[in-house]
Amino acid sequence: MATDYVKISDDEKGYDLSMFCVPKHYEDDLERVYIPHGLIMDRTERLARNIVNDFGYEEPIVALCVLKGGYRFFGDLLNYISALNRNTDRSFQMSVDFIRLKSYQVGQNDQQTGKIQVIGGDNLENLRGKNVMIVEDIIDTGKTMLKLLDLVKDYEPKKVRVVSLLVKRTPHSVGYRPEYIGFEVPNKFVVGYALDYNEFFRDLNPRLPNDTFTKYASEIKPP
Ligand code: HPA
Ligand code: MG
Repeated sequence: MATDYVKISDDEKGYDLSMFCVPKHYEDDLERVYIPHGLIMDRTERLARNIVNDFGYEEPIVALCVLKGGYRFFGDLLNYISALNRNTDRSFQMSVDFIRLKSYQVGQNDQQTGKIQVIGGDNLENLRGKNVMIVEDIIDTGKTMLKLLDLVKDYEPKKVRVVSLLVKRTPHSVGYRPEYIGFEVPNKFVVGYALDYNEFFRDLNPRLPNDTFTKYASEIKPP
């Protein structure tokens, strides 16, 4: 079965910034409110339910957060999963691990190949023999996730599933699709809710319903 997701169409205009509360220091750099925070939360709640149903209740899972961009989605998703675990007679234990990756290009022009380097986090030995749920903020080309999956495979986990809040429709996609997708978004650059542009915009207020924005990368003027 193909993975279900909420599709944000190419002509989605989002919402006027002036309708929401936006931090003063970012006002000039943002274009529109793209996916309201409340919608992210509602979709995340449903992803949690799907994950809990699919993973079954019999075994513990290790939730692996891909830093830095995944941290807010990871927190919210795990809160919803924990709520389900509190409110059922069949629950499962969950532990959390973190991994920080750096992706970079090596080679010249058309011979470029992407590499990823693990630059921090827990020992991946923790994943050996476990059911693992990798949590990402966004799948863009998919190259980083394919490399991470390759890396994780070396530790022989029992089962690996990937959850990504966003998947971008981009011609540069290598065709990779995660098992769980929150939203499929147009080929635009998205910031907020821990997604950054050169480390800016991660700090949009978590409690406001307006903290995911879009802007073409070339138009962003970091403060
Ligand atoms: N926003 C933030 N980080 C990203 C994106 C994006 O659109 N694509 C890949 N990394
Ligand atoms: Mg990411």
